[in-house]
Amino acid sequence: MSFYTRHIFFCNNIRKDGKACCAQLNAKVMYRYAKDKCSQEGIMGEGKIGVSESRCLGRCEYGPVAIVYPDNVWYQYIDEEDINDIITKHLINGNVVKRLQID
Ligand code: FES
Repeated sequence: MSFYTRHIFFCNNIRKDGKACCAQLNAKVMYRYAKDKCSQEGIMGEGKIGVSESRCLGRCEYGPVAIVYPDNVWYQYIDEEDINDIITKHLINGNVVKRLQID
């Protein structure tokens, strides 16, 4: 059994080459929002949900991006409404949020 039932990683990378990166697109704020929301709702931790930040995930052209394991589902998000949908529909209930999914 996995430590987390689902684990979401938010790219918070800052690119020093001047190219677009998730950090320029509010990724850190949305990561903190997701972490705080999951914590407040008591759904974060062993046997539940993991919320982490990461360096570049290699999908910069779609940023800001996040990926959910073990489902291997990529998301492009914009705001708190998007994060709420990912948390409620996918992380908790296992349903992919198609409107935000990228290949
Ligand atoms: S900077 Fe976020 S995927 Fe590369």
